[in-house]
Amino acid sequence: MRAMRAEQFSGYEGLKLVDLPKPAVTDGKVLVRITAAGVTPLDYTILSGQFHGVKAPLVLGNEGAGVVEEGGGTDFPVGSRVMFFGAYGAFEDGTYSEWVAVRKEDLCLIPDNIDDVNAAGIPVAYLTAQVALTLAGFRAGKTVLAPAIGGSIGNAVTQLARALGAKHAMSSTTNHSKAEQAKALGFNEVIDTSLEKLGDGVRRITDGYGADIVIDGIGGEVLSEALGALASEGSLTTLGYSASRKTTIDVTSLIVPQASIRGLNMFAQPQAAVTDAWNVIVSLLKSGAIKPIVAKTFPLTEAAEALRYLVEGRPFGRVVLTF
Ligand SMILES: NC(=O)c1ccc[n+]([C@@H]2O[C@H](COP(=O)([O-])OP(=O)(O)OC[C@H]3O[C@@H](n4cnc5c(N)ncnc54)[C@H](OP(=O)(O)O)[C@@H]3O)[C@@H](O)[C@H]2O)c1
Repeated sequence: MRAMRAEQFSGYEGLKLVDLPKPAVTDGKVLVRITAAGVTPLDYTILSGQFHGVKAPLVLGNEGAGVVEEGGGTDFPVGSRVMFFGAYGAFEDGTYSEWVAVRKEDLCLIPDNIDDVNAAGIPVAYLTAQVALTLAGFRAGKTVLAPAIGGSIGNAVTQLARALGAKHAMSSTTNHSKAEQAKALGFNEVIDTSLEKLGDGVRRITDGYGADIVIDGIGGEVLSEALGALASEGSLTTLGYSASRKTTIDVTSLIVPQASIRGLNMFAQPQAAVTDAWNVIVSLLKSGAIKPIVAKTFPLTEAAEALRYLVEGRPFGRVVLTF
């Protein structure tokens, strides 16, 4: 079978098309023929040698969608369409590959109203977003900020918070044309940081109240600015670093509002948290209350170009590989 494998973690040129044996279905795993794979910043972090505990050669791809071919039993009959996320593409071979043997507990049936390309970009972003909101104590009426409306985490948190009754579901972008695109897509609480500081935007939208919950995948200055926008007893969850792993914070941003900061690692979540998150996500997908956004698809063999487009092009929406 064809797969795009990182032969070494040396950057884009380390990714090569290889021919590998189709995986054997053992240990109760389910054989899935991949039809589409989501491209995520994690793939780039790994490919560029910046991720702990991974070994080359490694087929990349942390999420995907496909069709069950064997081993799914009555829960996932042969022919059913599934999407999944897990250790794939990080601690074992991943979804940049024509077939993957997937643990049953990682699988979720794709609702009929979602096609495979859209489904492939759902698992990482929406599971992370929903788990983060739950751990932060989200309920209807809260004010939420998730920077980067065009990014997968920013967009998924904003859509989920809005669908679940947030008083304000705010996001941001550094790019004026993305702010216009966001407005056209119905995201009305997006702070254009080319025109206004993040904290000023949050205070304007919330009439000075601030954000009860910040979910931040950007790091760097965005994180320190977002800390300054927290409401009394608010919390910021840091889970990524698209801009930078390092920043300087003003500790009074935490002290004065008695706010808190925590980290989130999706590889360390208990199965029950993931199952609960899938239940919420699937129901909102079926009702149309949340809608995945795909910016561009690339054929499997152009995985390096797809990653470059995600990281350097900073598109509005997901990048997906098709097979
Ligand atoms: N901890 C976990 O378990 C977990 C799970 C999922 C994801 N993550 C991590 O979370 C992070 C975000 O993931 P994602 O999928 O949302 O990324 P993404 O889709 O690539 O979006 C990132 C967005 O960040 C903004 N950005 C990039 N560079 C920036 C800079 N220098 N300054 C300010 N903004 C910048 C851009 O938005 P604008 O161009 O609009 O400004 C970009 O679209 C990644 O580091 C990812 O690995 C972690």
